[in-house]
Amino acid sequence: MKKKIIVTGGAGYIGSHTVVELFNAGFEPVIVDNFSNADKSVVERINEITGSNITLHEGDCCDEGFLRKMIEAEGEIDGFIHFAAYKAVGESVKKPLEYYRNNFDSLLIVLKVMMDSSIPHFVFSSSCTVYGQAEVLPVTEETPVQKQESPYGNTKKVCEEMINDAVNSGAKLKCISLRYFNPIGAHSSARIGELPLGVPQNLVPFITQTAAGIREQLTVFGDDYDTPDGTCIRDYIHVVDLAKAHVKSLEYLEAEKSENFYDVFNVGTGKGNSVLEVIKAFEKASGKNLKYVIGPRRAGDIVQIYGNVDKANKLLGWKTELSIEDSLRDAWEWEKRLA
Ligand code: NAD
Ligand code: UD1
Repeated sequence: MKKKIIVTGGAGYIGSHTVVELFNAGFEPVIVDNFSNADKSVVERINEITGSNITLHEGDCCDEGFLRKMIEAEGEIDGFIHFAAYKAVGESVKKPLEYYRNNFDSLLIVLKVMMDSSIPHFVFSSSCTVYGQAEVLPVTEETPVQKQESPYGNTKKVCEEMINDAVNSGAKLKCISLRYFNPIGAHSSARIGELPLGVPQNLVPFITQTAAGIREQLTVFGDDYDTPDGTCIRDYIHVVDLAKAHVKSLEYLEAEKSENFYDVFNVGTGKGNSVLEVIKAFEKASGKNLKYVIGPRRAGDIVQIYGNVDKANKLLGWKTELSIEDSLRDAWEWEKRLA
């Protein structure tokens, strides 16, 4: 029988790609989403890609009664992957209490109902943001976690601690937190991808919208940083590679013998690219010239970060398969499909 995995936030950007990869790997994914940041058509498009009819429960992970009913209806459940959260750094500064409520309550309630129903496996979406501006690069999982600059970052840091405490309480729970670097790109079918609301804050959606003529030009936020070309450096990972890390994490948890287990893994490419390198890679992948100007630095930006991913390579047996050009080509195909 296929193992059933509840994917909270499964209609969102990373969740939707993970649902597809879980299905491809022989799991039975079930989506739980309140559509606070996703479109309902995403579920139809996942069904088109997988040629299946993925179960959807529409509701809020902060609603304990709803989750209990969902668990009762689904019967035997092997694990949860918990994507459901608010994720915009700038917005979290303006609406801190909404971020703390949604990101903390949804995690607390998901863990509680899992423990009450003896559901053993849990994978959590964390972020490289927990490292802040690390002194030594690339960051490993041993790199100290920093005091956070934003309520969003703080929710990730504290959520990791909450999971650790739940595991240490003696509950039969095996958990992994994945610290994502910068996910970009879209499914190669161009049926699912990132759906930013309003003006994109992130680099790649801004690039593709500029190339599509929706934005006049891209502003590069600063070229006077202490990096080889003066622009900031990040570790950009294809969202499908990232999605596959969740499948490997579940397989790892299933093979894990002890009943209490918690660990964290970096999920990136291990390589940093500057903003100007991303622009060049986009131009190469799309065959389009991108209109951009150099502007001032963006407040709160760290200069550079990229991850050491040896631990995930060795223990999870996971590695990236797609290049930054693949990511940008797929992001561009997705943008053209949206037009
Ligand atoms: P997303 O907003 O596209 O997906 C989140 C999904 O969760 C959405 O479909 C939304 O409708 C749903 N949701 C939110 N709160 C909910 C609730 N209380 N109950 C039910 N559904 C709810 O975001 P994403 O980019 O796919 O990110 C997924 C996770 O990964 C988030 O936890 C995010 O913080 C984390 N993360 C994202 C990035 C990134 O760059 N995208 C980087 C690091 C970590
Ligand atoms: C931001 C968040 C991070 C979050 C991630 C994904 C901050 C400080 N960090 O990461 O916690 O996990 O988004 O949601 O907000 N850039 C431009 N012009 C643009 C947009 C971006 O030059 O119009 C540059 C930025 O300065 C940065 C790089 O592109 O150097 C990547 O930016 P972005 O996509 O916003 O991601 P992060 O800042 O890494």
